[in-house]
Amino acid sequence: MTVPEIRRVGVVGLGAMGAGIAQLAIEAGFEIVGREVSAELGAKAHDRIAHFLQRKVDKEQMGAPERERALGALSLTTDLADLADCDLVIEAIVEDLGPKLELFRALEEIVRPDAILATNTSALSVTEIAAAVSTPERVVGMHFFNPAPLMPLVEIVRAQLSSDEAVEAAVTVGEKLGKRPIRCHDTPGFVVNRVLIPLLNDCLRVLDEARVSPEDLDTAMTAGAGWPMGPCTLVDLVGIDVHVHASEALYEKLREPRIAPPARIVAMKNAGLLGRKSGRGFYRYD
Ligand SMILES: NC(=O)c1ccc[n+]([C@@H]2O[C@H](COP(=O)([O-])OP(=O)(O)OC[C@H]3O[C@@H](n4cnc5c(N)ncnc54)[C@H](O)[C@@H]3O)[C@@H](O)[C@H]2O)c1
Repeated sequence: MTVPEIRRVGVVGLGAMGAGIAQLAIEAGFEIVGREVSAELGAKAHDRIAHFLQRKVDKEQMGAPERERALGALSLTTDLADLADCDLVIEAIVEDLGPKLELFRALEEIVRPDAILATNTSALSVTEIAAAVSTPERVVGMHFFNPAPLMPLVEIVRAQLSSDEAVEAAVTVGEKLGKRPIRCHDTPGFVVNRVLIPLLNDCLRVLDEARVSPEDLDTAMTAGAGWPMGPCTLVDLVGIDVHVHASEALYEKLREPRIAPPARIVAMKNAGLLGRKSGRGFYRYD
């Protein structure tokens, strides 16, 4: 397939990830059409992006005219039909196969046949999502990390039928966004989550096995293994509920006991000890 030069990018879903991706893309000079399910949610995302860009101006990381130019490149809509002229559409909606399949089916009717369709899914199969359309060769994964404007990595995921051209076009976009793209195949957890989830769950099991405190476990891994942040601090930051959900999703696919969330954190999730966002997890956040 021949891929167009990518200038105009659609972002569907302007939640935590979609808004971050849209922000990155307007900063990098792309034209963005952001689609939300309601005008209120779209306005909220716009305000969040405007706020983060203002912080960059305040910190002298960006000029005020540059901020204005970036915000001028962001248009918002609730109508998918407004994505018709996009060269690439990045899907960042709720992590459920049903709505994603429905969206890809609808997009196929709207965008040009040579436009690339990307999903930011963390735990679903890109191959299964691509099956929604009659041209699965143009579907790839672009898995950004949270917060997207700050985390340097993007995993470019090749599904069963993705074309080389679609994969390379996504890599090029990743580079233009200032990220460090890596190429990988569509396997559960891709690269980072496949490694990190069982590793973090091993760390959390050691809390009970070695009767070590969260503080000492974090010290062990920062001072002894060179981690930038200890595992308890990291899981508190990610959210205990998010980590349990991600562990369960990966465990369901791979059935390796190490991947299953330890009982201790499942209980913490059920008790509302969700980490930083709830004020209490392994640590207190007052
Ligand atoms: N949050 C993370 O750490 C993270 C990291 C990498 C990838 N992801 C993936 O990014 C995607 C979005 O995650 P998020 O954290 O931004 O979620 P979020 O809850 O912040 O945003 C979800 C978005 O989906 C929209 N939405 C909800 N139901 C919809 C429907 N039926 N049809 C269309 N739009 C709908 C919402 O309006 C919202 O814009 C998911 O696939 C998730 O797995 C998340």
